[in-house]
Amino acid sequence: MAIRWGICSTGKIAETFAAALASVEESVCAAVSSRSLEKAQEFALKYGFEKAYGSLEDMLSEGGVDVVYIASPMACHYAHAKTAILAGVNVLCEKSVTLNGRQLSELLELAAEKNVFFMEAMWMKCRPSFLKAMEWIKDGSIGKVQMVKADFCNDVDFDQNDRLFRPDLGGGCLLDLAVYPLTLAEAAFGGMPDSIFSKARIGKTGVDIDMAAMLEYENGFADISAGFNSKFANNAVIAGDKGHIELGDWFMCTCDAVLLDENNTVVESFHQDNLCNGYEYEIMEVNRCINAGLKESRLVPHSGTINVMAMMDECRRQWEYKFPDEM
Ligand SMILES: NC(=O)c1ccc[n+]([C@@H]2O[C@H](COP(=O)([O-])OP(=O)(O)OC[C@H]3O[C@@H](n4cnc5c(N)ncnc54)[C@H](OP(=O)(O)O)[C@@H]3O)[C@@H](O)[C@H]2O)c1
Repeated sequence: MAIRWGICSTGKIAETFAAALASVEESVCAAVSSRSLEKAQEFALKYGFEKAYGSLEDMLSEGGVDVVYIASPMACHYAHAKTAILAGVNVLCEKSVTLNGRQLSELLELAAEKNVFFMEAMWMKCRPSFLKAMEWIKDGSIGKVQMVKADFCNDVDFDQNDRLFRPDLGGGCLLDLAVYPLTLAEAAFGGMPDSIFSKARIGKTGVDIDMAAMLEYENGFADISAGFNSKFANNAVIAGDKGHIELGDWFMCTCDAVLLDENNTVVESFHQDNLCNGYEYEIMEVNRCINAGLKESRLVPHSGTINVMAMMDECRRQWEYKFPDEM
């Protein structure tokens, strides 16, 4: 059955997502909502959406949407997702899914109560290279996972009005960037670490501009960093006692996956071209789940999202950092 998609908010990622949506069979670009009806109408025209609305509430009350993709800033996710769930509409919510674990568990309880599908838009986890890496871990190709090293650092131009630099919008590199290496570590080790040690530097607008964390697991460590000040290779390594996996430049989306043995000899290289821009895989996963009547994706399970949110809560607890909404 074709799935009718609605998009909430018309910012940068919504545009990228809309381009992917148009490329996926069995997806209908049904509706878009914005705080401004005019903006929604422009977006609808540009990306071929059937209807445009000046608020999420208006879009939902009219019906005709099976799932809403929430593409607003982090601080808005909780309210937008709650509105959609209460309207009985399935949700794909951008990362980081909420500001904290408390908001996430409320949403998951509500989603269960209302019997709707809910997934964090952790597109990395739906991508073929990521799935291949997980397959190698599962089949024992690298032995027992002992070390994960992953960075996501970008040189971002400072703009005090950008959501990235605004505490009131849930800005900062933890929720924006570190969520990816933390998600990789959680998936590779298979759960929560025993302990976390994290430090961050807070910039002039009051958000974390760079951070590092060491996660301690029973069998080893994950070493992750994120920041807005310097461009790193942004690759990732998952090492076990029999070999390791390298995920190349921009590991969270476009990369190849390479499996190497304990002598550093390449055993297998995996590459798959995007069908569109890389976001199509999460869209296909959501379509598949909704059509199968599932309330949770196997690729992006709630447990992983909960664990990563708990790790980010712990990092912020150690920094003594709270968002304005939490004070
Ligand atoms: N998966 C990925 O690769 C990826 C990449 C980038 C970002 N993201 C995630 O996507 C979300 C949006 O990021 P973005 O880069 O697209 O942000 P953005 O360009 O700033 O767009 C956010 C949009 O949210 C809407 N919005 C609602 N309330 C707002 C408020 N109080 N202040 C400002 N905007 C508000 C606005 O759309 P209207 O004016 O139409 O209401 C705005 O254009 C974030 O959660 C981010 O983490 C994901």
